[in-house]
Amino acid sequence: MIIAIANQKGGVGKTTTAINLAAAFARLGKRVLLLDLDPQANSSISFLDPLSIERSAYELMTDGLAPVEQAIYRTPVEGLDLVPARINLAKFESKLIGDIDSHFRLKDRLKSVIKEYRYIIIDTPPTLGLLTVNALVAASHLLVPIQSSYFALEGTDDLLETVEKIRARPNPDLEFLGVVITIHDKRTILGRDIRGHIQEVFGKKVFKTIISRSVRLEESPAYKEPIFTFAPHSSGALQYYKLSEEVIGRV
Ligand SMILES: Nc1ncnc2c1ncn2[C@@H]1O[C@H](COP(=O)(O)OP(=O)(O)OP(=O)(O)O)[C@@H](O)[C@H]1O
Ligand SMILES: [Mg+2]
Repeated sequence: MIIAIANQKGGVGKTTTAINLAAAFARLGKRVLLLDLDPQANSSISFLDPLSIERSAYELMTDGLAPVEQAIYRTPVEGLDLVPARINLAKFESKLIGDIDSHFRLKDRLKSVIKEYRYIIIDTPPTLGLLTVNALVAASHLLVPIQSSYFALEGTDDLLETVEKIRARPNPDLEFLGVVITIHDKRTILGRDIRGHIQEVFGKKVFKTIISRSVRLEESPAYKEPIFTFAPHSSGALQYYKLSEEVIGRV
């Protein structure tokens, strides 16, 4: 199962969801690969020292001859491996422009390692460019985090349109797994209104588990830990654990 986590709106909790969902699956004893397709490299920096990275997602997708394993790193989390990103990933689009297989680079390169992992989770950048398209072409499922904020649904139409185009041709098997509401404040009327609105638009696709606004979740990447070791008894740990169960239940 390959889950792309995407929303071209920035700062909605894609990376936080990718890291903690990946860590939750690993804690359940599954082999997991987290793939960072964002040149900002936030997922990578949450686990690895950037100076220790030699080969990354960019080399994985542009150098078809080198073994895929060279871009895979172990993380301190048992069972969780990582393909990190570096800033050179920002060149990906300009390098591949015009190549007829440019949408399929990731899918083709993952073929040889797919069997090793129960879950592959792809963190994507806040754009609908070639990197996100590569993620959606390679993925079996799409998970969309939507921040509980006034402009929550801004841009989701464009995302769903892109998904339809990808389903029409390169990846008819892509399934819309669901929407997770993130950074939610249930104490405010606005928070409750926004939640209701997201549920009206996406109906059953909205996961029951909602990720609350939490200082612990915000802090954990700075300490290079997923929420389960950084603050195991926090609401964030419980909510991401529940989300992982819901995801498993949907497939
Ligand atoms: N539930 C939460 N409670 C509080 N802060 C959160 C929560 N989830 C994420 N954050 C914080 O919000 C910011 C944006 O989150 P994150 O990096 O996960 O979003 P993103 O969608 O990956 O952003 P980008 O589009 O830039 O890649 C980060 O500083 C993160 O620590
Ligand atoms: Mg991110």
